[in-house]
Amino acid sequence: SHDGEIDETSKHDQLDEVRENPEGEELTSDHGVKISDTDNSLKAGERGPTIMEDFHFREKMTQFDHESIPERVVHARGTGAHGYFQPYEDPDLGDEYDDIEEVTKAKVLTDSDQKTPVFTRFSTVVGSRGSSDTVRDVRGFATKFYTEEGNWDLVGNNMPPFFIQDAMEFPDLVHAIKPEPDDGMPQASAAHDTFWDFASLKPEISHMIMWVLSGRALPRAYRMMQGFGVHTFRLVNDDGESVFVKFHWTPELGTHQLVWDETTKLWGKSSDFNRKGLYDVIEEGYDPEWELGIQIFDEEQAEEFDFDVLDPTKIVPETEVPVRPIGKMVLNETPDNFFAEVEQVAFHPGNVVPGIDFSNDPLLQGRLFSYQDTQLNRFGSANWDEIPINRPVAERHNNQRAGFMRQEINEGKASYKPNSIGDDDPQEVPEEEGGYEHYAEKISGKKIRNRSDSFEDHFTQARLFWNSMSEPEKQNIVDAAHFELGKVDRMEIRERMVYDLFNNVDHGFAKRVAEGIGVEPPESPGDELPDHDREDPSLSMENRT
Ligand code: HEM
Repeated sequence: SHDGEIDETSKHDQLDEVRENPEGEELTSDHGVKISDTDNSLKAGERGPTIMEDFHFREKMTQFDHESIPERVVHARGTGAHGYFQPYEDPDLGDEYDDIEEVTKAKVLTDSDQKTPVFTRFSTVVGSRGSSDTVRDVRGFATKFYTEEGNWDLVGNNMPPFFIQDAMEFPDLVHAIKPEPDDGMPQASAAHDTFWDFASLKPEISHMIMWVLSGRALPRAYRMMQGFGVHTFRLVNDDGESVFVKFHWTPELGTHQLVWDETTKLWGKSSDFNRKGLYDVIEEGYDPEWELGIQIFDEEQAEEFDFDVLDPTKIVPETEVPVRPIGKMVLNETPDNFFAEVEQVAFHPGNVVPGIDFSNDPLLQGRLFSYQDTQLNRFGSANWDEIPINRPVAERHNNQRAGFMRQEINEGKASYKPNSIGDDDPQEVPEEEGGYEHYAEKISGKKIRNRSDSFEDHFTQARLFWNSMSEPEKQNIVDAAHFELGKVDRMEIRERMVYDLFNNVDHGFAKRVAEGIGVEPPESPGDELPDHDREDPSLSMENRT
């Protein structure tokens, strides 16, 4: 539809225009010439060499030779599905706000008559495209909302905190967590020296490490997984007023995990366990659902917390700010073509619509550059937004032109402004008419490269997480630490994890971990690292678990 009216089927209608099903059709070349034989190359003589002139051979082979595109630098392995999002009528936002329009003007979140089409991609983070589903890892939960006001991408994870505080550290984190650069191992697991070396030197990682060692890192099914926007974002209303927001997806089926022994068996039996699970239930008509919830709080409330809401290693406890359900997402259709839809979908946290805005979280700020940039690597062209799965359903007009694989045929002479010769020159839209306006936050300060003091507390929320676990869950975390750290060759890394991180999280936890990995248990909270000479810093084979 091109008149601003968008419903659940809009994206399907748009995609239908490019869908192809050549079943039963005559074979042709890419240029439409009918082909009589696609099994034998053109030869000089009965048993002679292949002839350069064979345009069909060259076309078929060239297409094949260029079939692959770079996999995503992170979140390479995933699956996706189509569906819709629909806001609830009159959601309960607590005492402070009467209705949702008070906090945001984004129609996708407020208009309960509207089913906005969505495409959601779930992923693991570390493993390559061909790795296994059931590894210990964070999971991506990225949703593209094709709204009438343009695309909004909520690019989240299944855990609410993150590893680091500043986007500047992301290349280091990913280098540490990806297979080691000399031998390319391990494929897709946290169990290696470089990751734990990095972690043991970065106390800010403590909170996220507790989540990663927990069952959260072993989701039983994508449809049984929560999602989180992680960062604090902003919502903005019609009057230009803003509140902070955290986004939460809650699965209708509840949040469930596998246990470690199941995951290791599944690696062997079905490396597609999570991907196939999602595909199969949708094909069978059990459409998974998630509720979208928001935690909303204003600047004054934010100031009162004993952590900084701009620090992505922190969550806003639900005891402080409850999660308010505002709508639901249903995934009801599997893709027809994995490459065209799942592989080519390209998310970007910078895709926002009026009423949704960013905070100054330094991790989020860096992501706003990184995703746009990485798509150039994946697609080789700034025109990745023209690929069918990425195209908005909302109309678009501008003077952006040309580039590799340009699809649109822009008419007229003027692709610049101001101009006096093209009367259909795209015009700007005032804010009142829906033109995007960045929230006019007042900023002043010195230009400095720093880490705010308010980002300093690395252990309180990690401890909160540990203390919120039941004993069996605690034992799972300890077992996971034994397994993961037991694979670390260098003893000093194991020691730093126990003394510099875990002993600051919880003394009892640190002792339990130490006991299983050949580290002398700390005697009391706050104990310093044992100072002893080690003849060989690496462990002998016998000491590895
Ligand atoms: C994917 C960068 C933090 C969630 C990616 C990709 C890059 C990237 C380059 C590959 C995108 C592609 O090729 O299409 C970064 C940087 C971060 C960061 C620089 C921090 C500075 C986060 C955080 C989250 C997250 C905090 C969760 C809130 C995701 C997801 C995907 C992804 C879900 C996969 C999207 C898909 O399914 O295609 N990230 N990321 N990332 N990232 Fe991040």
